[in-house]
Amino acid sequence: MMVIAAKMVRGKKVEIVSLLILVIVMAATAATVTYDHRALVIDGKRKILISGSIHYPRSTPEMWPDLIQKSKDGGLDVIETYVFWNGHEPEKNKYNFEGRYDLVKFVKLAAKAGLYVHLRIGPYACAEWNYGGFPVWLHFVPGIKFRTDNEPFKAEMQRFTAKIVDLMKQEKLYASQGGPIILSQIENEYGNIDSAYGAAGKSYMKWSASMALSLDTGVPWNMCQQGDAPDPIINTCNGFYCDQFTPNSNNKPKMWTENWSGWFLGFGEPTPYRPVEDLAFAVARFFQRGGTFQNYYMYHGGTNFERTSGGPLISTSYDYDAPIDEYGLLRQPKWGHLRDLHKAIKLCEDALIATDPEITSLGSNLEAAVYKTSSGSCAAFLANIGTQSDATVTFNGKSYRLPAWSVSILPDCKNVAFNTAKINSATESTAFARQSLKPDGGSSAELGSQWSHIKEPIGISEADALVKPGLLEQINTTADKSDYLWYSLRMDIKGDETFLDEGSKAVLHIQSIGQVVYAFINGKLAGSGNDRTNISLDIPINLVNGKNTIDLLSVTVGLANYGAFFDIIGAGITGPVSLNSAKTGSSMDLSSHQWTYQVGLKGEDTGLGSGDSSEWVSNSPLPTNQPLVWYKTTFDAPSGSEPVAIDFTGTGKGIAWVNGQSIGRYWPTSIARTDGCVGSCNYRGTYRNDKCLKNCGKPSQTLYHVPRSWIKPSGNTLVLLEEMGGDPTKISFATKHTGSNLCLKVSESHPAPVDTWTSDSKFSNRTSPVLSLKCPVSTQVISSIRFASFGTPTGSCGSFSHGRCSSARSLSVVQKACVGSRSCKVEVSTRVFGEPCHGVVKSLAVEAVCA
Ligand code: GAL
Repeated sequence: MMVIAAKMVRGKKVEIVSLLILVIVMAATAATVTYDHRALVIDGKRKILISGSIHYPRSTPEMWPDLIQKSKDGGLDVIETYVFWNGHEPEKNKYNFEGRYDLVKFVKLAAKAGLYVHLRIGPYACAEWNYGGFPVWLHFVPGIKFRTDNEPFKAEMQRFTAKIVDLMKQEKLYASQGGPIILSQIENEYGNIDSAYGAAGKSYMKWSASMALSLDTGVPWNMCQQGDAPDPIINTCNGFYCDQFTPNSNNKPKMWTENWSGWFLGFGEPTPYRPVEDLAFAVARFFQRGGTFQNYYMYHGGTNFERTSGGPLISTSYDYDAPIDEYGLLRQPKWGHLRDLHKAIKLCEDALIATDPEITSLGSNLEAAVYKTSSGSCAAFLANIGTQSDATVTFNGKSYRLPAWSVSILPDCKNVAFNTAKINSATESTAFARQSLKPDGGSSAELGSQWSHIKEPIGISEADALVKPGLLEQINTTADKSDYLWYSLRMDIKGDETFLDEGSKAVLHIQSIGQVVYAFINGKLAGSGNDRTNISLDIPINLVNGKNTIDLLSVTVGLANYGAFFDIIGAGITGPVSLNSAKTGSSMDLSSHQWTYQVGLKGEDTGLGSGDSSEWVSNSPLPTNQPLVWYKTTFDAPSGSEPVAIDFTGTGKGIAWVNGQSIGRYWPTSIARTDGCVGSCNYRGTYRNDKCLKNCGKPSQTLYHVPRSWIKPSGNTLVLLEEMGGDPTKISFATKHTGSNLCLKVSESHPAPVDTWTSDSKFSNRTSPVLSLKCPVSTQVISSIRFASFGTPTGSCGSFSHGRCSSARSLSVVQKACVGSRSCKVEVSTRVFGEPCHGVVKSLAVEAVCA
């Protein structure tokens, strides 16, 4: 009896021990993610999370590790991305998870760098992405209505969402399985437009929520801009500011899924930018007011390769003025100032997660928030939300100077670690170095050989083209297989038609809902026009007695991605199209005639983009400034390892391929409107997407990114489809270089660098502000100091000048500290520079050259 009992106990012991081991192993890998009123809770601990959006198809897998590392170095904890349905399922049931669409690889790389992932499955994305991320085949599913309580739509949405969740589960990528995904999003900003869908919108939203929950990811779901998101889905905020946001339940944390770090560019638009002082202010205000999760949209914007840009008229660059620029280089001082901000916020983490802030007014437009824990830690945020004047406030018996529109962060409720308006990171210049492609006055830097060409036929070239009475809507006709749709008409004209003026002249009237139209009469370009949604053209033309052809080429530039019913807005020449007499007003409506249609161009069909065709013509003069010509050349890689761009100045509009990879639409002749730009943008005051614009009256985009990994050392092919007319020999290559110039201005009133922050007030009182410089490239050193002044220097980077007061030692002190080293630090104080003028707050401004 006893023996048996002992055996049993031993057996149980073994079982328990192995169970324990299993639990320990699981615990080491899997994490529980929940949330409460204050924050996301990971493994039982509330977290302050700084996140940034990087959309994987907007860069290449070769760029991902560097972008992710730069995100980590910038102080991010989380990478946020949408999932791009139309990229993953270009044809129904045919999936693509390769190359730039290798989502699993992207998520794993984030995990490898120690970052979490917020996966916004959508599957509606918006994102200035073609058709908002929906595959266009979805539009043709019988009976479908997008984003509403419609069975065919819901079935497809559920199928794709489940497909992604299953893939993530298979690869063990949810935190609940030991992976990095701590949060998933369903839908996107549906609350902004749901009223347009009436009651069916509400039931669709609820269905989306429960469908998502049923997929059982083991981590929370969020819906952004959805005030009525049902429990347990967290409703989150998107916007330039979210400090005033409160979630719809006291059990949910205050989360910000899109803090727009800049704004997107459109063809024909000036370039938006958002000053970092304002961006940092918005972030600090959010944490001041109880937020615990904040995401930059975008942290790296990247490029809309191929025909992925949304629209209409979204540019190929999706730079977004993000902290990491389109090419993957740090945008300074934006990146650096935000890194310092993140450090300051993290210094407050213990207090922030412990409690709600206690908010008090320190005067008009002046606000303090204090986070105090029972164990004695304390963090404070002091804000001046006035836009005009700096203020001095008294807080806990101490006096603090707060610049207008700024927040000071005090991780110990006493000492300022950071102020959003006081930048401690140097501006690093970036510049493009040109390399010409074509032998150009014997230039030694030439990269390319001669050009060859193929002329695209004008009008219908297919034998089995579609003939239909009336004008067809474009997307329904092309299914977005191409940007191009030919509308062609052959007609017999007699000399006595009433719409003809003398000499068989007439005016061709064309009405289109976008985005570009070229009109060819008897094979010759007669006129063209473009607009987002409304093109109205009146083109004087010459017809001939007898047979005439009218060939209209309608071109889309990115399908709409935002707004209620964006999927059925449509595009193309919807009419009327008519011939009119300028003299008598007599007119003939052609709209309901028998039109012949061709989807796409012949060269697209035959795959000219790949470069390999036997039809390229190289032994005759190159036709230039003619519409619809394909061009090809070969080139060697631009020297060095810097990012590469093509400058398309000289060409008109089209699509380009490098070694068969489409680098996107180019359109250097699309000129930004002339109004709305400001010389320098005052960061103080509420930011809007049209507040800070540059590049008015200039081409919206001349430089187009070609990822390095798409280029071989030599023998590369560049193919252009030039639709408008241009001279490809004017094209040049450019490499983007960073940091030959560093410049920074730090005042005596700046906080000491956040890295040196210590809560020991006696010590920190002795810590002066420091101006630090570091050449971005490891092989560089500071070779000279262009400008240095300790006193009251004026101007900004690139144009500093000495003010009324300047220490005579300025230059020599900075030279001694910096020249010859990659990095240097100079204390900003009279101890170092002497006293050039009593009773004023002095600054040290420096401009240095790295070589
Ligand atoms: C938001 C949307 C994003 C993006 C952004 C503008 O409304 O959720 O996907 O389109 O606007 O860049």
